[in-house]
Order: sequence, then C-alpha cells, then structure tokens
Amino acid sequence: MIYSVALDGPGGAGKSTIAKKVAALKGILYVDTGAMYRAVALYMLENGVDINDEKSVCAALENVQVDLAYQDGAQRVLLCGEDVSDTIRRSRVSMAASVTSAYKCVRAFLLDAQRDVAARQSVVMDGRDIGTVVLPSAQVKIFLTADSRVRARRRYKELTEKGVQTDFDSVLADIEKRDWQDIHRRQSPLKQAQDAVLVDTSEMDFDRAVRAVLSVIESKLGE
Ligand code: DC
Repeated sequence: MIYSVALDGPGGAGKSTIAKKVAALKGILYVDTGAMYRAVALYMLENGVDINDEKSVCAALENVQVDLAYQDGAQRVLLCGEDVSDTIRRSRVSMAASVTSAYKCVRAFLLDAQRDVAARQSVVMDGRDIGTVVLPSAQVKIFLTADSRVRARRRYKELTEKGVQTDFDSVLADIEKRDWQDIHRRQSPLKQAQDAVLVDTSEMDFDRAVRAVLSVIESKLGE
C-alpha cells in the first residue's frame, strides 16, 4: 500500500532530521518541500529579481526548474539542472524563501511536483502545508513543534559547530521572524491540520522524538 506521512511545523523543530530518520526506518522516501521553496528563492537572488515584488517573482518563474534527485538515499535539489543542496541552506536564502513562499504563484508552481512524488511512492513529506493543502488525504498527519527558544538553541549549536559566526539573540530573532511570516501569510499559512497529531519536541532528545513520530505512524496505519 502507498501511504503518505505529512509532517508540518515551524522551522527548526527538527522536522528534517527526524523525517529523514523515520523515512529510512520505514523504507520510504523523504521529501523536503522547504528545499524546493529555497531553490526558487535562490533563483530570484542569483538573478537579481526583487523578492519583494510579487509580479517580478511570478514572471521569473517561467525560467525556473526545480527537480528532486536522490543520491544514496539523500535528497538533492536541482535548480535548472545544478545541484544547489548546500547553497540553499544559507541564512539569506532562508529569509528570502520565507518571503517568496508567501506568493500564490510560487505555491502553485511547486504543488503538482509535490503531489506527483507522493502519488508514485510512500513518502514522509515535510513542510508547512502538507497536511492542510498538499496532501489533505495523507494517512498520517503530524504537527511537529518546539518552543522557539529551544529551536533557537538547537540552530545556534548547529551553526557554531559548522564554524558559522553568530550570536544566540540573532538566531532567535530570525526564527521568530520566520515563524511570524509563515503563520500570518494569506496563502497556505502554517497551521496544524485538524486531524494532525501534535508532537512537541521541546523536552525530547532526537531518539525520543523519532520514537514519538514512529508510534503515531504505526498507530494510524494500524501496525
Ligand atoms: O523548512 P524550511 O526552513 O527549509 O522552509 C523554507 C521556507 O519555505 C520557510 O520560510 C517556509 C517555506 N515553506 C512553505 O511555505 N511551505 C512548505 N511546504 C515548506 C516550506
């Protein structure tokens, strides 16, 4: 049976690392839809398109191609054929993605591709609107969250371990600004689907969070 797990929640809640692990344990595909929004934003930044001008962003989409590829089980994102999986993680791209993902044309542009992957195979799809808009009939819907200070602490640790110079307050401010933008936009705002199970990872370590998500999946699928 093909099934979908919709995993939504704010940035920094641990969705991608947890989703990757869960997908590997269940032997199904992990799809990171945030990476697709980031690739669109990167295109705009690299091509001098004013990201605050919705009309220009929509017009530029005509030249954008975003594809997902899988190498040794890891998702790679291709922008017009070029692997941009690392570049899209920069904080300038995060902020730009939060702006351009609010545009209806950008959401419509990526929607079919997201639905197509899930129609072909079982997936854990992570994003903001997977349970509410992209896959409203997903067999399993989970809303994964954590307190913003906890999310900022994790992000800060991750960045400093990578050698990125930053300070905690600006990481927290970035997270809160992105939350605000994602929750308050008109198109597909970040919100928990009515039938989603809430998993709050504020007090959980990684292994416990993975177990919590697995147990929701198994109980929903009747395993
Ligand atoms: O999950 P992320 O941080 O990689 O997402 C980057 C941006 O894309 C974020 O601001 C929210 C947006 N996004 C979205 O609007 N819908 C999705 N399904 C996934 C991400």
